[in-house]
Amino acid sequence: MTTAVNKAGVQFSRADFHIRPVTAADRAAIEAIAAQIWDGEDYLPFVLDAWLADVSGLFCAGVIGERVVAVAKLTHMGGDQWWLEGLRVDPAFQGMGLGRIMHHYMVNYSRRYAPGTLRFSTASSNKAVIRMAAETAFQRVAAFVAYGAEADPAIPTDRLVRLESGDIDRAWARLIKLPYFEAAQRTLEDSWRFLPLTPDRLRERLAAGQVYGWVRPGDIPGLAGLAILNAPRGSTGEEEAARLYVGYADALPDEFAALAMALRGLAARQGFERVSWKVLDDAGLLTRLKAAGYQQRWDEQVLLFARELSLTEHAMIRTQTGA
Ligand SMILES: CC(C)(COP(=O)(O)OP(=O)(O)OC[C@H]1O[C@@H](n2cnc3c(N)ncnc32)[C@H](O)[C@@H]1OP(=O)(O)O)[C@@H](O)C(=O)NCCC(=O)NCCS
Repeated sequence: MTTAVNKAGVQFSRADFHIRPVTAADRAAIEAIAAQIWDGEDYLPFVLDAWLADVSGLFCAGVIGERVVAVAKLTHMGGDQWWLEGLRVDPAFQGMGLGRIMHHYMVNYSRRYAPGTLRFSTASSNKAVIRMAAETAFQRVAAFVAYGAEADPAIPTDRLVRLESGDIDRAWARLIKLPYFEAAQRTLEDSWRFLPLTPDRLRERLAAGQVYGWVRPGDIPGLAGLAILNAPRGSTGEEEAARLYVGYADALPDEFAALAMALRGLAARQGFERVSWKVLDDAGLLTRLKAAGYQQRWDEQVLLFARELSLTEHAMIRTQTGA
């Protein structure tokens, strides 16, 4: 059996590498890996408690002997919707095939135990993950870009109306007919996760006071758009805490820029300094966003990948006549 040697001289073979569930005792090892990733900006330490407590999916460690050298997480998003996240390999062991083993393991596990749709996101520069996605039959289904704008108390917000739980029917009816809902894969983005935007999730956000309707000018009835906000991020740092995060916002084409602009006014009234938003990478939409004073904050795209886990479940049976 071939033996590999990592950058620090650790010798191991494939048989030495195992995958097992993460336990609380792995915390320090995982934090040590995260501290070396993305210049120490990895969000993993902030979600570790929640991930350890989550029994609905699978949180796995890749170990060599006793040493944790990789992690990955499968998260249940409700119904038949699943999300892959948290793939990390200790930099000292990167480029040795371990990330691929973790990714394939998670996809194989999902195929057995998580029927439905599996999704994940990654940056457009992440060649390793994009390659693994292709190997495991994922399709790139959407691309988003990170935009932001300064909050501005001078911008009026009178057409932005906070909706309540009782508004669920009209909010849902509006949402599903908005121009970008399908292209955004019926998802809202929250902390790098693209969550299925189902009636239940909309209901949750309405109850939390995080959904705003964009009303038409004058007395014209009906909503012209919708904005769904994320909960403020208190724990991940001062910069994040100062931002109003838009999970999803959409409006009729001639209303989109006005809605985007009003969100800057709303941010100021809620005590935030900026608006942050991962928006669908669509030329028309971005033109309107820029007209509302937004700028791209990050050069890369955030790519959303998806695949069906039970390809055979709905497969057509072909007859001899082809009928
Ligand atoms: C991304 C990451 C998980 C990949 O794990 P890894 O163990 O380094 O990757 P592997 O060695 O298994 O490589 C898998 C494939 O990707 C390719 N690859 C790896 N790193 C690459 C890079 N920087 N550029 C281009 N291709 C790369 C490998 O060559 C291999 O393909 P090949 O066998 O056809 O040559 C790891 O580098 C990591 O933890 N990065 C930081 C965190 C991160 O980006 N996580 C993913 C978030 S979605």
